[in-house]
Amino acid sequence: MTDEKAISVLLKEKRSYPPPPAFAKTALVSGPGARARLQAEAARSPEKFWGQAARRLEWFKPWRKTLVWRAPHAKWFVGGRINVAHNCLDRHLDGPARHKAALIWEGETGETRTLTYLQLHREVGLFANALKSLGVAKGDRVAIYLPMVPEAAVAMLACARIGAVHSVVFGGFSAEALRDRLNDAGAKVVVTADGGWRKGTVVRLKDAVDEAVAGAPSVTAVVVLKRTGTDVTIRDGRDHWWHRLTAKVSPDCPAEKLDSEHPLFILYTSGSTGRPKGVLHTTGGYLVQTAWTTRHVFDLRETDVYWCTADVGWVTGHSYVVYGPLACGATALMYEGAPTHPRPDRFWEIIERHRVSVFYTAPTAIRAFMRLGDEWPAKRDLSSLRLLGTVGEPINPEAWRWYRETIGRKRCPIVDTWWQTETGAIMISPLPGATAAKPGSATLPLPGIDAAVVDAAGRPVPLGQGGYLVVRRPWPSMLRTIWGDDARFRQQYWSQIPGMYFTGDGARRDKDGCFWILGRIDDVLNVAGHRLSTMEIESALVGHAAVAEAAVVGRPDELMGQAVAAFVTLKGGRAPTPELKDELREHVAKAIGAIARPADVRFTDALPKTRSGKIMRRLLREIAAGGAVRGDVTTLEDFTILAKLQKDED
Ligand code: PRX
Repeated sequence: MTDEKAISVLLKEKRSYPPPPAFAKTALVSGPGARARLQAEAARSPEKFWGQAARRLEWFKPWRKTLVWRAPHAKWFVGGRINVAHNCLDRHLDGPARHKAALIWEGETGETRTLTYLQLHREVGLFANALKSLGVAKGDRVAIYLPMVPEAAVAMLACARIGAVHSVVFGGFSAEALRDRLNDAGAKVVVTADGGWRKGTVVRLKDAVDEAVAGAPSVTAVVVLKRTGTDVTIRDGRDHWWHRLTAKVSPDCPAEKLDSEHPLFILYTSGSTGRPKGVLHTTGGYLVQTAWTTRHVFDLRETDVYWCTADVGWVTGHSYVVYGPLACGATALMYEGAPTHPRPDRFWEIIERHRVSVFYTAPTAIRAFMRLGDEWPAKRDLSSLRLLGTVGEPINPEAWRWYRETIGRKRCPIVDTWWQTETGAIMISPLPGATAAKPGSATLPLPGIDAAVVDAAGRPVPLGQGGYLVVRRPWPSMLRTIWGDDARFRQQYWSQIPGMYFTGDGARRDKDGCFWILGRIDDVLNVAGHRLSTMEIESALVGHAAVAEAAVVGRPDELMGQAVAAFVTLKGGRAPTPELKDELREHVAKAIGAIARPADVRFTDALPKTRSGKIMRRLLREIAAGGAVRGDVTTLEDFTILAKLQKDED
């Protein structure tokens, strides 16, 4: 890149985009002054601020105390009684939302279904009673392994209604990954489907469940939704068809009056060890913050058709497909299949067909669409869009601008939202009518959120300097613990920087105080917005009979942000063949899921290690990225390895 070009990229990156005046005029929070006032008010008393937000929900019993904080454990809205499903459904039935579309669903094969709030309420009541008929009681864990169909939301809300704790497992995870999650949570029931549609083929979910449940003794029943009509085996006594079960019960199921801190769900995510961790979220605080952020970050209106493209298997699907939008009485769109099936304009076609006005997706998807060419969105009427959002990974300014110009047609503000499975809801984001957006920056912490960039001792670093991204005060939708492993919760998040929640991300702030996320600084990869642990992939690799040792690092990937690069040493006698590379890739996909399949597998005689035996990942990252190894290598034990690794690049 010439100097001139580099400078113009830098300048462009520094450009900021104030909210379009027409948008700002009618926005919920309008103008930077309004945000600053809200921010100042919330900073003076976060508890008062969140208390006000909580009063927008319906409580069976008011809370006594907004926050009890015994670090690192927080309790929000203590003594309050509330039900998430009641707030997402029943509360809307007395007003004009009664017959409003709650969910508009489109299947990959083209069929559509609309469920009004009243209809969704009935489905949830039926399924809640169905769960009860299987012996599910308050506090029991229910695993949900479904495609993106309305029943996924129904199953989640049914659990919430009776106080069962759901653990949604992404349908792309393997049987082995599902089994581990069932066992860790001690799940009593699994809710699945015969299959789901993806890129024109059937994903055989029930087969994976059969394999997983064979190794999960806590599971006593499996509910099977008929979706694809695929042949499946139904085991008498254990397996039940969804439609038969719900035909036998009443739709009337009172919502349990749950304690504000009653567990709502467990969601497994990758950490820096080989074992996924069950992030636990509870009821009152979680709903307060998801509802507040949905309303304000997306500037949500009664008339919006809101579409978040995430799968319910991820936290974004929990907070911004199901709970946030329904708590706000919005119309949420749900799409089952692949973004480019049967043609590259499927997403734009959906926006056109359903007149979507708010659209929330991942940078990886945006980059993929960018590559497919402007002719696809150009053919579609996208004039219904008024707001765009991104989540899950840093967005490169080029993709940001493409999104703004080609999809938003320069009319729509973009909200780049930073948050995590652990934070439960959006933490750092523009408010679209108030904050000037900067391509690549999530801008400012939301009111009531005390995020900062600090050094290892917890001292704020000067503006412009990189540091650790932390949150210094508890927030309502924060994770409460790691399911069954509070020691890991303390160690992982609260031990690295004294007295603060450590996010695992690096960040810097610019002169305006805007946050720029620099990515993970632990052993967690972000591949296409999905979190993967290098150790988890390594342990899958060493589980293969031919592998002696493995090291996994991320390397930059234009499309997916990062790609998985594996370095493998083989056991004596095993030949490093191309077939074995493919076999190892498949092995990882089977152990974890297709998203973890390594992009590169390189065989090596040995891994670069320090004298104390630690694998030098930094070197591997540099080699995987295809560049020369530049940094300090004085601690490297055997220099010949480095030379070989570099030479073997293919
Ligand atoms: O590294 C950050 C990145 O995704 C991580 C959280 O991943 P997960 O728990 O799977 O949740 C993803 C959806 C909320 C973060 O630690 N990340 C998330 N959003 C952004 C981001 N990086 C940059 N910009 C974002 N907007």
